[in-house]
Amino acid sequence: MYSRRSVLLAGVAPALWPSRAVRRGYSWSEIERMIARGDVKGKLTRDDLPTPALLLDLDAFERNIARMAEHARRSGRRLRPHAKTHKCPEIARALIRAGAVGTCTAKISEAEVFAEHGISGLLVTSAPVGRHRIERALRLARRAPDTVFCVDDAGNARELSEAARASRMTLNLAIELLVGQRSGIACGRPALELAQLIDRLPNVRFAGLQAYSGPSSHVVGFEARRKHSIEAMTPAVETRRLIESSGIECAWLSGGSTGTYNIDSEIDGVDELQPGSYIFMDIDYNIIGGRGGEVYEDFENSLTVLATVYSKPSRDVAIVDAGLKSFATDRKVGPAPKDLPGVPYSWLGDEHGKLDLARAPREVKLGDRIEFLVPHCDPTVNLYDHLYCLRGDNVEAVWRIAARGMNQ
Ligand SMILES: Cc1ncc(COP(=O)(O)O)c(C=O)c1O
Repeated sequence: MYSRRSVLLAGVAPALWPSRAVRRGYSWSEIERMIARGDVKGKLTRDDLPTPALLLDLDAFERNIARMAEHARRSGRRLRPHAKTHKCPEIARALIRAGAVGTCTAKISEAEVFAEHGISGLLVTSAPVGRHRIERALRLARRAPDTVFCVDDAGNARELSEAARASRMTLNLAIELLVGQRSGIACGRPALELAQLIDRLPNVRFAGLQAYSGPSSHVVGFEARRKHSIEAMTPAVETRRLIESSGIECAWLSGGSTGTYNIDSEIDGVDELQPGSYIFMDIDYNIIGGRGGEVYEDFENSLTVLATVYSKPSRDVAIVDAGLKSFATDRKVGPAPKDLPGVPYSWLGDEHGKLDLARAPREVKLGDRIEFLVPHCDPTVNLYDHLYCLRGDNVEAVWRIAARGMNQ
């Protein structure tokens, strides 16, 4: 640990030099307290952060938000970005400030956190099945009455109606359509019958249609992705028409992802987009290919993990302090060091990773800080308590990932 005095000591290896805040005279315990209070602006820089740390490049993040908001505006679509990506109330607020109509959440517990932070326009995209979830849905709706819950089953809709009647409330229900490989009721007649049931039942209101085609989102190549998404979403749009022609109003059909936002916004009848990853981006999205080429570059990589080289067993090997517990590991690709192009990272257990420096473009020393692009943003964010927001090298804010671990 560095003290005020130790910064005067010469002869420390460059990579192990004290951080800027330490050189300015702060002790590490003062830095820790600043981070805990979020009192960082104008005081801390990237070098002051303990690693592994999750970083957000605010300039890139703000450009991503603005780009998608502008696309939604120009294409006349509402935007309700999915919070499963960020789990962070500050980010939900930033998206709403930029024009989003609300926030999708994957689970009720996630939605509870956003409601506690005053976020409205919640759409819970998984069905509240089971007694406990139904009770939580009612509690959530009491706090945030415009919340919409997805359902795909008649029995579940009846239970929700009954529970809402007993509590003298009305719940907003959207029907989830099976357009991907996951959940949802079949498009066409089965969905129409569920809409008619919801329309008849007391204390529930038919709000709209949810149709997320996960398998379309990462189809490689723009034209192939376009074909996949149009094929997946067409039955959803037809179902909307069927419901409307039966005399039931369908206020919206929500769907889409970072991979298909500019495809789904051209489909007549899809009037709300719910992408998530675009705010951060990850390697898994970079490699799907964009409209103009092999790399998907509509949005910038704003999210990175900062790690430290803590061992140099040989000239060509560096061991960093970020392993399986610092990155999601569900994708074929591994983390990529941002300013060491072509340097492969390999997993070295829970806490460690290995860099093969044989073809490194520069020397890597003990104590160096390495920033990594992440393979898959959503589950990586869920591994961290805080997001350090940077403007250049300066830490501007510390945002709590308040819905981290909220998977119920
Ligand atoms: C229901 C739903 N909507 C939207 C999204 C956002 O997708 P993406 O992060 O690929 O933009 C997801 C992601 O898994 C999802 O599950």
